[in-house]
Amino acid sequence: MQKEIFLPFAKPSIDDETIAEVLDCLKSGWLTTGPRVQRFADALKTYLKTSHALPISSGTAGLHVALLALDLQPGDEVITSAMTFVASLNTIVLAGAKPVLVDVEPHTYNIDIRRLERAITPKTRAIMPVHFAGLAVDLDPLYEIAKIHNLRIIEDAAHAIGTFYKDKIIGSFGDTQVFSFHPNKNMTTGEGGCVTTSDPTLAHTVQILRFHGIDKTNAWNRFAKGGSQHYDVVAAGFKYNMMDIQAAIGLHQLNHLEDFIARRTLLANRYLKAFAGWPQFQLPQSPAYSNRHAWHLFAPLIVPEKAGLSRDEFMTAMAERNVGTGLHYTAPHLFSFYQKHYDYRVGDFPHAEHIGEHIVSLPLFPDMTEAEQDHVIATIAAIFNRKLA
Ligand SMILES: Cc1ncc(COP(=O)(O)O)c(C=O)c1O
Repeated sequence: MQKEIFLPFAKPSIDDETIAEVLDCLKSGWLTTGPRVQRFADALKTYLKTSHALPISSGTAGLHVALLALDLQPGDEVITSAMTFVASLNTIVLAGAKPVLVDVEPHTYNIDIRRLERAITPKTRAIMPVHFAGLAVDLDPLYEIAKIHNLRIIEDAAHAIGTFYKDKIIGSFGDTQVFSFHPNKNMTTGEGGCVTTSDPTLAHTVQILRFHGIDKTNAWNRFAKGGSQHYDVVAAGFKYNMMDIQAAIGLHQLNHLEDFIARRTLLANRYLKAFAGWPQFQLPQSPAYSNRHAWHLFAPLIVPEKAGLSRDEFMTAMAERNVGTGLHYTAPHLFSFYQKHYDYRVGDFPHAEHIGEHIVSLPLFPDMTEAEQDHVIATIAAIFNRKLA
């Protein structure tokens, strides 16, 4: 039953063309932001059908500068999901506002829109929904609420490159979105991300803030022949630019993204079929509205009373059998920083807490073979003392 080689829960697919592109980039002598980042930005703009696509050094950096572009003032509030990676909350704090959490729906793990409306106060400036695991938040009612209350929306789309809400790809409509290209995500640039927006002013601010506050689109080019060494600095900006080495990876990843998602979908459906009716798991569920799940994560909840072990014990049992799993995520209001500074307490967001205690990400990546997946399923059946059909 034990595999000799550890099967990770996530692994990027890097082909020879990508490696060749990275080598070409290294040999070209232009390693940092340059022509490949420009090509990558153009390719993302086309794929996401957006008016502005701004590659950046990480999803976290993208959330940070997109929030800063809203010019939040002390006391301003930004509403986000109680079940997310802590970067969603941290960036709200770093942008000078208060993160106001709203509990999630127990079955989609996405922010509960009815509760969200009750969390709006006169200090609320923006909403940051999170498309958890690659499943789109119900955006029509959310944008409706934002319109009524005159709020901005920054979609944390870290999990959602290639996700569709109804018949539209995330990034192609609405206000602002931030994607992540961390190696565990559906496509990668090593580290990296992208801000998309329909707002030219926000796009301009992000462009300035991601590179030292320099107000000049081609400042990266200043050392090249014909590039100008002169520029103005209009803000104390960051060093959040993406490198050409990263874009070299991203260009090829984007070419393969639809195939990656098709493969993830096939594997996710195989899991759903294999585990159907197992009382030990509560499986991911589909919402009523149409969507295309990008399956960044396949993350059921363990039901300890039926499984005979806790989520953490399950993860340990899997690791002992050489199968990797992931924990996405502990409910972030339980971290000491948020308890100390924002007065959050155990019990504040029961659904997020329940999910955070029971969720487990199973191996899911495009290069995983069906035989490897069958091994994962058999390993889980053995841990649960189940006979496979
Ligand atoms: C929901 C969410 N938001 C933001 C981020 C930050 O992205 P990055 O790792 O690219 O900084 C992540 C990364 O895992 C995430 O899962």
